[in-house]
Amino acid sequence: MSFRALVLDQIDDALNATVQVLDDDALPDADVTVDVEWSSLNYKDGMVLGGVGRLVRTFPHVPGVDLAGTVVTSDSDRFAPGDRVVCTGFFVGERWWGGYAQRARVKSEWLVKVPDSLTTRQTMEIGTAGLTAMLCVDALERDGVRPDSGPVLCTGAAGGVGTYAVHLLAKLGYEVTASTGRPETESYLREIGAAQVIGRDEIGAPPEKPLLSERWAGCVDAVGGATLAHVCAEMRYGGSVAACGNTAGNDVPTSVLPFILRSVRLLGVDSVSVPAERRAPQWQRLGELCDPAFFGAATTVAGLDDLPAAGAQILAGQVRGRVLVDTAR
Ligand SMILES: NC(=O)c1ccc[n+]([C@@H]2O[C@H](COP(=O)([O-])OP(=O)(O)OC[C@H]3O[C@@H](n4cnc5c(N)ncnc54)[C@H](OP(=O)(O)O)[C@@H]3O)[C@@H](O)[C@H]2O)c1
Repeated sequence: MSFRALVLDQIDDALNATVQVLDDDALPDADVTVDVEWSSLNYKDGMVLGGVGRLVRTFPHVPGVDLAGTVVTSDSDRFAPGDRVVCTGFFVGERWWGGYAQRARVKSEWLVKVPDSLTTRQTMEIGTAGLTAMLCVDALERDGVRPDSGPVLCTGAAGGVGTYAVHLLAKLGYEVTASTGRPETESYLREIGAAQVIGRDEIGAPPEKPLLSERWAGCVDAVGGATLAHVCAEMRYGGSVAACGNTAGNDVPTSVLPFILRSVRLLGVDSVSVPAERRAPQWQRLGELCDPAFFGAATTVAGLDDLPAAGAQILAGQVRGRVLVDTAR
């Protein structure tokens, strides 16, 4: 069967993305073929589309770290034609052809069945960003952070991970402070659940002292860099930070003092290689926690042709919430 796909090619040293019509024979070899209905745009997709960090080594390439749709053929006894499935991470869209196409062929161990509480569209409104936020919330909970522990902070709040972290924590009863570099998103952040909104600048510089006034019982940090160091210095005694992102950089200029004097815990969260069996309960929970009205507020929709421009926007920190990709558009 032929299908539309966004194909990334390297010509000399420049990347060129075009929508092309491909045939099933072009797909990589694996045990499950999926009719992809929806995909999404994540920060990493922006990096792939923009050639940042050389995440893709083999061309031509179909980007898209997320995909959701319906199984067409399966050589796996875990999936049958007609099953609704979601695939995120596992380096799909980087080392393997991804979701910016109407068809994909992937390994069955990367797939999770879409829970009854979600549509395939909603799984891609959530996507890697929402799953990562859910895993961060899970990490904080497993580390003992409760709604009555005190206020929690979400950094990079108007972005994809931040949007979901704010909404999920608010739904669970936490008092959420959202940090953003875009003051114009304040009403949006309050609409999705933030009790307070602070400016990125307030926490964006390295801490002037190793320990600052205690503010946060928990934090979902999508930003890293000096922000993460600043947040560590402001954590309450015994508080936990779930660190998942690096939009502000990889170097974290912290001291050991928050950890050894305030028992602060830094919890690393990865959603790329976490096994499928640990993902399924998180998808289930996302279906229970996300409000239909929240999906409406948090999502904009793009077609395959729109993705190169949207990728540049996400790298520039200009995307609010999540971009859903309609593969038929
Ligand atoms: N660990 C994992 O498995 C995993 C999975 C998914 C994503 N991630 C990482 O998580 C991060 C967020 O991903 P995303 O998809 O949510 O991206 P996104 O939608 O672009 O959100 C990132 C947000 O970070 C803030 N930001 C951007 N540049 C900044 C800067 N220089 N300093 C401070 N804040 C800045 C902006 O929020 P405001 O405008 O509100 O300030 C931006 O919206 C990325 O680093 C991504 O690679 C990691």
